[in-house]
This record gives sequence, C-alpha cells and structure tokens, in this order.
Amino acid sequence: MVHFNLQAILALAVTVSALPADSPTQYVGPENGNLVIVGGGTLDDSILQRVIDLAGGNDSSIVVIPTAQGDPSYDQNAANAGDFRRLGAKSVTVLHTYDPEVANTEEFVQPLLNATGVWFGGGRQWRLVDAYAGTLTQQTIRAVLDAGGVIGGSSAGASIQGDFLARGDTESNTLIIGDHQQGFAYVKNVAIDQHVLVRNRQFDMLNVLKYKPGILGIAINENTAVHVWKNSAQVFGASYAIIYDGTYWSRDGNDPNQLPDDSGLFYFLREGDEYDLGLRKVIKSS
Ligand SMILES: *[C@@H]1O[C@H](CO)[C@@H](O)[C@H](O)[C@H]1NC(C)=O
Ligand SMILES: *[C@@H]1O[C@H](CO)[C@@H](O)[C@H](O)[C@H]1NC(C)=O
Repeated sequence: MVHFNLQAILALAVTVSALPADSPTQYVGPENGNLVIVGGGTLDDSILQRVIDLAGGNDSSIVVIPTAQGDPSYDQNAANAGDFRRLGAKSVTVLHTYDPEVANTEEFVQPLLNATGVWFGGGRQWRLVDAYAGTLTQQTIRAVLDAGGVIGGSSAGASIQGDFLARGDTESNTLIIGDHQQGFAYVKNVAIDQHVLVRNRQFDMLNVLKYKPGILGIAINENTAVHVWKNSAQVFGASYAIIYDGTYWSRDGNDPNQLPDDSGLFYFLREGDEYDLGLRKVIKSS
C-alpha cells in the first residue's frame, strides 16, 4: 500500500512539474479577464463597444498601444483611441515607445496601473515584440488581464495575443512563419492570423500546423472578432473565423470527423458560434 501511494504522489509531482511555469491553470485562454481578438479592417462600433463593456464601461481607463503601426509618433487618437472616446469611454490614453528600455520603466507603465482595458492597434506584430517583450510593460499588461480586465486588438493586435506569432517576419507580411515567432501568449498553444479571407490567406495557417504540430490555428476575417475567456472562444461580427484543429465541422451536422493530419481542411465559424479551446470542439452553433 505504501509503495502504491508513493507512486501516486510521484505521478502527481510529475504532472504538476510538467505544467509550464507561467500557467497556473489548465485553461487555454486567460483564467481571469477577457480577450477580444479582431481580424483587422474597418471595425463596426459593436466590436469596440464590447471592449468598453468588458473594461467596465465609460468610466473605466483604457490604454491604446499603436506601436505596431510603425509611425514615427502618434497623437491621442491613434489606433481606435478616438473611436473609444466617441463611444463614451472617458479615460483613453495612447501609450507608445519603440525602446524596450523605456518600456521597462515604472514611469512608462503608469497609465496601465489603473487600466482595465488594453487595445493593440494594427501594423506589424514584430514591432510589439521588439518594444515590449520581456519588459515591465509586458508584465503590467498581463496584470491588467489577470486582474479581470480586457485585452483587445485588431490585425497585428490580434496575432500578438497568440502563442506562436503568426506572420511575425520583419521583411514581409506575406510569410506566415517569420523571424519573430513568440507572441504574448494570452492564449496558449494557439496561432492567430487576420484579414484572412479579404487577403486570400486561408491556406497559410496549414504551414504553421506543419511547423508546430499540435498548435491550434485561428484565422479571423476583417470586421470579425473572437471573444476568449477561459476555454471559451465566441465569434461575433460581420464575417467568419476559421478554425484549424485537424478536424472538420459543418453546420450540416455537428459530428466532427477526425481527418488525417495532412488533410489540409479547416472550417468556418460565424457570429454566435462558440468553440471550446480545451476540448477543441464546436460547442454551440448559430
Ligand atoms: C487613471 O489614471 C489616470 C491618470 O494616470 C486618470 O486620468 C484617470 O482618470 C484614472 N482613471 C480612473 C478610472 O481612475
Ligand atoms: C457611454 O457614453 C455614451 C456616449 O456619451 C452614451 O451614449 C452611453 O449611454 C454611455 N453608456 C452608459 C452605460 O452610460
């Protein structure tokens, strides 16, 4: 009996130590807080309104980070900041640097300390990595989420929320596997692409799945969002989000058929559809 118990304890210890150090739970998405992951393009107010609502309404503080855009400087309306104000958000602050040393200072992160919402604008996602990865800014943004806030972003601001950084190449945005490969990983073991149908990119994610076996691909079309919390991913907005999980699903019938790994198939979800990131299964269709 003693021998058996020891084995059980050892097995438990192995299981616990096998979890990544930064992952306190089994959730694929954030345990606390919400993500609004948007596929780029011109956004309907309903998408930005969702961010304001999840941040706690008009009186909450929202920080907008336009850095991906690559402009020499930004005004206080950069990257949807003006839209958030127009919709009624009273405290919207544009925060930007390209210098990781600046991003690593207490002074720079000040606006994030009382923020309950953070929004990443579009551009090139590697710029967000070069400016913020490993800095106090990255930590403080994460803390906003852990405290129950919302992180949102469109286009580059969508891809950065993934674990594998899709389309992170400094030379070309047509390469889905580039020289920057680590995103901010608010959703674990997931790669996120954007503008997918408008730019005819729907087959590119299959290369990421070959390169990183076991990863889940999500590619979102323009003016469409995926709202993620815990293991739930709910689609809303005008168009579709594509799921690449090695299975196939259709509105014709809810039984996913397991396909060969190299099948090259994927499937589309639309507003009202809900996907379980843990089970890797559609759990609600509209
Ligand atoms: C957060 O702090 C900023 C100044 O850093 C202030 O303008 C804003 O009103 C504060 N927001 C809230 C909700 O307290
Ligand atoms: C937020 O502000 C907008 C614009 O002023 C207003 O229309 C809306 O009713 C406000 N929302 C709430 C919940 O008060």
